[in-house]
Amino acid sequence: MGHTICLIPGDGIGPNITEATKLVLAHSGVQIDWIELPAGAGAVDEYGDTLPQKTLDAIAEHRLALKGPLTTPIGGGFSSINVRLRKHFDLFAAVRPIRSLEGIKTRYDDVDLVVLRENTEGMYSGLEHEVVPGVVECLKIITREGSERIARFGFEYARSRGRRKLTVLHKANIMKMTDGLFIECAREMHRKYGEGIEYEEMIVDAGCMQIVRDPSRFDIIMAENLVGDVLSDLCAGLVGGLGVTPGSNIGHDCAIFEAVHGSAPDIAGKGIANPLALIMSGVMMLNHIGEEQCGERIKAAYNAVLAEGRPDEVTRDIGGQAGTLQFAEAICRRM
Ligand code: NAI
Repeated sequence: MGHTICLIPGDGIGPNITEATKLVLAHSGVQIDWIELPAGAGAVDEYGDTLPQKTLDAIAEHRLALKGPLTTPIGGGFSSINVRLRKHFDLFAAVRPIRSLEGIKTRYDDVDLVVLRENTEGMYSGLEHEVVPGVVECLKIITREGSERIARFGFEYARSRGRRKLTVLHKANIMKMTDGLFIECAREMHRKYGEGIEYEEMIVDAGCMQIVRDPSRFDIIMAENLVGDVLSDLCAGLVGGLGVTPGSNIGHDCAIFEAVHGSAPDIAGKGIANPLALIMSGVMMLNHIGEEQCGERIKAAYNAVLAEGRPDEVTRDIGGQAGTLQFAEAICRRM
């Protein structure tokens, strides 16, 4: 049976890596009808909005999307389309697996953890205003409902994946009310849904030191939105960088899969971006829709390419010379 899935190519390297990802997914044998949708700065001219209604309607209908990165201007301009999408579809859990890969040399060879980020609340919501000239304020809103559902998701995810431990990274020593509520809810959900799963809390600054010293002591790392955002890129650096770190945004009845990285303006248009993080996000999507066999085929193929590590088959960020499509074609050849 075929699947109808929304596709947002996105900005910068987005169109290039989504093309590569479509190629690899098609080779795996899965039948997908893609609905290509506009979003990003490029959508404004034609639709008058960075996130056109047409895109929202299609995702609302099909409840599933694969998304390229979207640029957010710094210090002004339009607000984040990513934040709008996550809030609009209530995609409260960002799941970002971080795994060592054969063939990609880093300081660590035994990393296997998941960053679980609350995706809809906290300072990352960008609720800011000017109090008086020269004084600006950012609101950090944390709710019991939002904190309970991410923690419950975390323990249920841990059980379904056979994971043994969940560590919350927080700053509740300083933000006693907001992060305090977050960990209070995590403790409560551990009591209710965490049977057999070890629970641990760490203040985020010391936690970061522990992550870079010995990532193997972590299993699931859960955090509120902004901390989870920062930790995702930190952890990506443990296993070879942003080019190899996939992700998903999960809600109760909708999911959008995307790489952790952004639109990479420094390499956009050069055809050299690593498509693997989006391809891996595509594998997560296939697992989500019950197409595990096709997902396994892709996984075996990219692992074979990485293990061989031929310079003409992998991209520059992981030590090769290949372009985006060459890497994707190498993966297709192994299937
Ligand atoms: P970035 O992730 O785009 O790039 C950081 C560095 O990693 C750059 O040197 C880039 O070349 C490299 N990189 C990223 N992805 C790569 C890939 N697939 N292959 C090879 N190298 C790769 O982060 P940056 O520069 O901070 O943000 C650029 C834009 O992307 C901003 O507008 C930001 O708001 C947006 N962004 C969007 C995200 C999303 O759509 N989910 C996530 C993160 C950032």
